[in-house]
Amino acid sequence: MELKHVVGAQRISPAVLKRLFHTADEMRALVLREGGSDTLKRRVMATLFYEPSTRTRLSFEAAMRRLGGKVITTEAAAEFSSAVKGERLKDTIQVVGGYADVIVLRHKKQGSAAKAASVSSVPIINAGDGAGQHPTQMMLDLYTIQKEIGRLENLAIAMVGDLRNGRTVRSLCYILTKFQSPRLYLVSPRSLRMRKDIRAYLRRHGVPFEECDDLREVAGRVDVVYLTRVQAERMKGKCVRMNGRFQMDPSVLERLQQHAIIMHPLPRVDEIRQRRLVDIDPRAAYFRQAHNGLYVRMALLKMILAPDAPL
Ligand code: CP
Repeated sequence: MELKHVVGAQRISPAVLKRLFHTADEMRALVLREGGSDTLKRRVMATLFYEPSTRTRLSFEAAMRRLGGKVITTEAAAEFSSAVKGERLKDTIQVVGGYADVIVLRHKKQGSAAKAASVSSVPIINAGDGAGQHPTQMMLDLYTIQKEIGRLENLAIAMVGDLRNGRTVRSLCYILTKFQSPRLYLVSPRSLRMRKDIRAYLRRHGVPFEECDDLREVAGRVDVVYLTRVQAERMKGKCVRMNGRFQMDPSVLERLQQHAIIMHPLPRVDEIRQRRLVDIDPRAAYFRQAHNGLYVRMALLKMILAPDAPL
């Protein structure tokens, strides 16, 4: 099962995810048992980040190191790479592809990962392309749902917040069309509604969705509440602030089913009120979710760089 570039969720199959999650479980056991392995010894990963990141960059770098590989990196590539001198992304990718076996790319422009993949001699992993997609976040999100809820079929999910500019929810929508009977509640202010292309994609693939503007109306009906922050960096004009209808707080917690979970790709801003009370609720899964990113990204790097090697 070849996995070269990871650009968007549309090209990823449930079969690949199943194998990925099995390997992620093995990675979790490996890390707990002995910290890592030499599976990717002498392999080099380049992380090119033109936008800020904490989780994605550090978990990819930790993943590569725990598998014995090396990392070359340019954090804040928009300022500290030759992009400042006017170098175009396609040229950078062709050059870095000569230094590394895989490139993890985060860029502010939607479509940049596909553009990079079109010229790259090594696999490109999209670590977020503007308001486009974030497919490896989708992978760790689904892994978390599988672990916490126990299934990926027949899920009712409320996606909440800035659905217009959030890329994680776009990747999630794409992938959920490949599983049986998902039901989506898209909860956002009117100005931050999910964009037309995704709504059309959901309709084409027969996924029922409801758009609404109050989380409390749907909280009791879902397996997953997936919160997102306002992507202020993508707004030219005045930034929209979330009000109570789009926030998690103890009064919304009360309405959630016992088996439901609260997810958030993080970082969080003001999507969760009275954090101390929400954070200690066992249904708050967002830190476990972020932690899962390490195992899923270890599994992904192994699947791409050494699919047949033992751990
Ligand atoms: N979830 C996520 O992409 O976080 P970072 O921006 O910190 O990488």
